[in-house]
Amino acid sequence: MATADHAPHAAHIPVLIDPLIDAVAPVSGVWLDGTFGNGGYTRRLVEAGASHVHAVDRDPLAEDKLRALPDDIQAKTSFHATVFSRMDEVATGLDGIVLDLGVSSMQLDQAERGFSFLRDGPLDMRMSQEGETAADLIDRLDEQQLAGVIYTYGEEKASRRIARAIKAAGPLTRTGELAEIVERCLPRAKPGQSHPATRTFQALRIAVNDEYGELYQGLMAAERALKEGGFLAVVTFHSIEDRMVKRFLQARAGRTGNANRYAPEAVQVDPQFELVTRKAVGPSEAELARNPRSRSARLRVARRTGAAAGEIDAKSIATPLLKGRD
Ligand SMILES: C[S@@+](CC[C@H](N)C(=O)[O-])C[C@H]1O[C@@H](n2cnc3c(N)ncnc32)[C@H](O)[C@@H]1O
Repeated sequence: MATADHAPHAAHIPVLIDPLIDAVAPVSGVWLDGTFGNGGYTRRLVEAGASHVHAVDRDPLAEDKLRALPDDIQAKTSFHATVFSRMDEVATGLDGIVLDLGVSSMQLDQAERGFSFLRDGPLDMRMSQEGETAADLIDRLDEQQLAGVIYTYGEEKASRRIARAIKAAGPLTRTGELAEIVERCLPRAKPGQSHPATRTFQALRIAVNDEYGELYQGLMAAERALKEGGFLAVVTFHSIEDRMVKRFLQARAGRTGNANRYAPEAVQVDPQFELVTRKAVGPSEAELARNPRSRSARLRVARRTGAAAGEIDAKSIATPLLKGRD
C-alpha cells in the first residue's frame, strides 16, 4: 500500500476517483475510460455499477494491466489500443466518459520509456511507442523553436537559456544528460519545490505526444460519443490543460457566450453540456496526505444535453502565451 512517505509508489493510487464517482453517481450503463493506464478508474467504474467499460489507451502495454485485474472486472472491460481523440470510433451512445490526463506510473517507473528525469533512460517519451522520440524532436527543432516548446508547454521562464544549453551540448540520447543540462541552467530547488527539470520534461512530453491536440480533439470526440444525460469527467494535472477543459466546457455550456467573440452571449441557445462541477475540484486533505501526487490534480464534470454536437474554434479554448520569458 502506498503512503505519503513513499511518494513514487503513491502514483499507483487513482487520483480524485472518490469525488469523480460521487459526481456521476449512480453509475450504470456503458462507459469509456479514455486513459486506462493502470486501470484504477476502470476498476472503480465497474465496481460502482457500470455494465461495461471500453478501456482506451494509446500505450499498447497498458493492456497487460487489464490482464492483472480481477476476472469480474476483466469480464466487463474491453481494451482498445488507440488515442482518445478517436473514441467515437470505439463507441457512441455512451453513459459516461472519463479522462485522467498525463503519464501513468507504469510509464514513469520504467526508465527505458524515457519519461523520468530521476531514472536515466533513452530520451524517448512516446506513450504509443510510435513516431518521433524526444531525442528526434530536440534534434529537429532549432534553438528558437525548442525554446518556444519549453516555454509554451512547460511554462518555463528560463526556456531560452535551457534551449541554448541543450543545443550547445549536441545530440542528446539519455534522459540523464538532459536533466543534468537543465539543472545547470537553473537555481537548485528549495525543499518542497519540484525538481528543476520538471517543466522541461513536461514540455517535451506534451510536444512528443501532441497532448494538447489530443485533448482538444478528445473533448470534441466525447461530445459526439455521449448520449443525452451522459457524463464527461476530466482530471488534469497542470494549469494549461485545466484551462483548456474549463474553456471548452464553459463555452459548450453557454457560459462564456459564443466561440465567436463578436457574437452576443444570447446566441448560444442550445448548449451541448451542463456543468456538474461549477468550479474545478481538487484533492481533499485526506487524499493529499495519502497521495502527494494528487496536489495539482483538478476534476471537472459536465453532463451532455440533447443538443447536436458541433464544431468549436480551437483558438477559443487555446491557452494564451505567458509573459516574462527570459
Ligand atoms: C494518468 S494515466 C491514467 C491512470 C488511470 N486513470 C489509472 O487509474 O490507472 C494516463 C494514461 O493515459 C494514456 N494516454 C494519455 N494520452 C492519451 C491519449 N491521447 N489517448 C489514449 N491514451 C492516452 C497514457 O498512455 C497513460 O497510460
